[in-house]
Amino acid sequence: PCSLIIDTDPGHDDAFAILLALASSNVTVLGLTAVAGNIPARMAAENARRIVELAGRAEVEVRTGADLPLFRPARHAHDIHGKTGIDGYDWADPEVPPCGGYGPEWIISTIRQHPPGTITLLALGPLTNIAQAFRRAPDIVARLAGMVMMGGGFFEGGNVTPSAEFNIVVDPEAASIVFRSGVRLTVLPIDCSNRALMPGGWADCCAALGTRTGDACAGMIRFFERHGNAKYGTRTRPLHDVLAMAWILWPELFSGRACHVGIETSSPLTLGMTVVDWWHVLGKAPNCLWLRDCDHETIYARILECLSRLP
Ligand code: BDR
Ligand code: CA
Repeated sequence: PCSLIIDTDPGHDDAFAILLALASSNVTVLGLTAVAGNIPARMAAENARRIVELAGRAEVEVRTGADLPLFRPARHAHDIHGKTGIDGYDWADPEVPPCGGYGPEWIISTIRQHPPGTITLLALGPLTNIAQAFRRAPDIVARLAGMVMMGGGFFEGGNVTPSAEFNIVVDPEAASIVFRSGVRLTVLPIDCSNRALMPGGWADCCAALGTRTGDACAGMIRFFERHGNAKYGTRTRPLHDVLAMAWILWPELFSGRACHVGIETSSPLTLGMTVVDWWHVLGKAPNCLWLRDCDHETIYARILECLSRLP
C-alpha cells in the first residue's frame, strides 16, 4: 500500500497518470496540488477536479499552488495540450471547487501529519510547488518515502530546446533545488518515455471500454496524437507522465541507473538541461535513479486494465 500526493499541471498525460493512480487499489491518493505548467495554475486545479470527478472520486481534494516559476515568467504548452490543457473531450464543469489554502503549505502539513516514510510524492509538472515546500520546510524531505517525477532528458535531448525538457526548463531553479535536496528521487525522463510510445490504436481500445472514462481517454489521445505525430514522424505519442505513475506500481518493468544529475540554470544555450553522469565520471554520490527503458507493451496493457475499473 502506498500513500500518494500528486503535484500536476493537467495536461493529457497528467490526466492518465491521475486516472491510473485512482484506479489502483493499493494506492491511496491523499490529494492533488496544481502548478503552472502546461496551463496556468488555476486552470490546472480545475482540470484536476474534472479528472477526479470523471473517475467518480469527488472526495479527493485538489488545491491550487504556484502560478509562476520561482524566478522566471510563466511558460505554457497550449500548442501541445490545447486551449483547456485537456482538449479532445467534452468535459463537464467541476461540481466541487478546489479547496482553499496554498498547495505547497498543504504538502508540508500533510507530510508532517503522516508517519515518516509513508508518503510518496509524484511530480508531473514543473517543480515550483515542490521546491517551495522543500525550501520552507526542509524537514519534510527526510519524512518522505520517496519522490517520483517526470522530467528531463539527456540521451534523447530536449523537447522544448535541443537540450531541455518542458518540466525542467519552465522552472530550472526549482528543479535544481529538488535535485540537490537529498530526497530519494526517481526520474522518468523523455529518455524513457520517448521510447515507450502508446500502442497503435490505443484510442480505440480506450473507447471500447464503453465507459465515460474510456470515452474521455479516447478523445484526449486523439487530440494529443494530432499534434505530435507529424512533428516527430511517429505513429503514436508518448504519454510521459503516466509512465512515472506506472513506475510506482510496477518498478520491475523499468530499468535505469543510480547516478548524479545536475541542472543547468544559467547558460542561454542549454538552460534547463539535466546533465546526467551516467558513467559516474564525476565520482559524485548519485542523487537519483534515472530510468532509461521499460517494457511498454506490458505497461500499456496493465494501464488499460486499470482504466477499465473506472466508471
Ligand atoms: C512533460 O511536459 C508536459 O507537457 C507533459 O504533461 C509532461 O509532464 C513532457 O515534457
Ligand atoms: Ca505534466
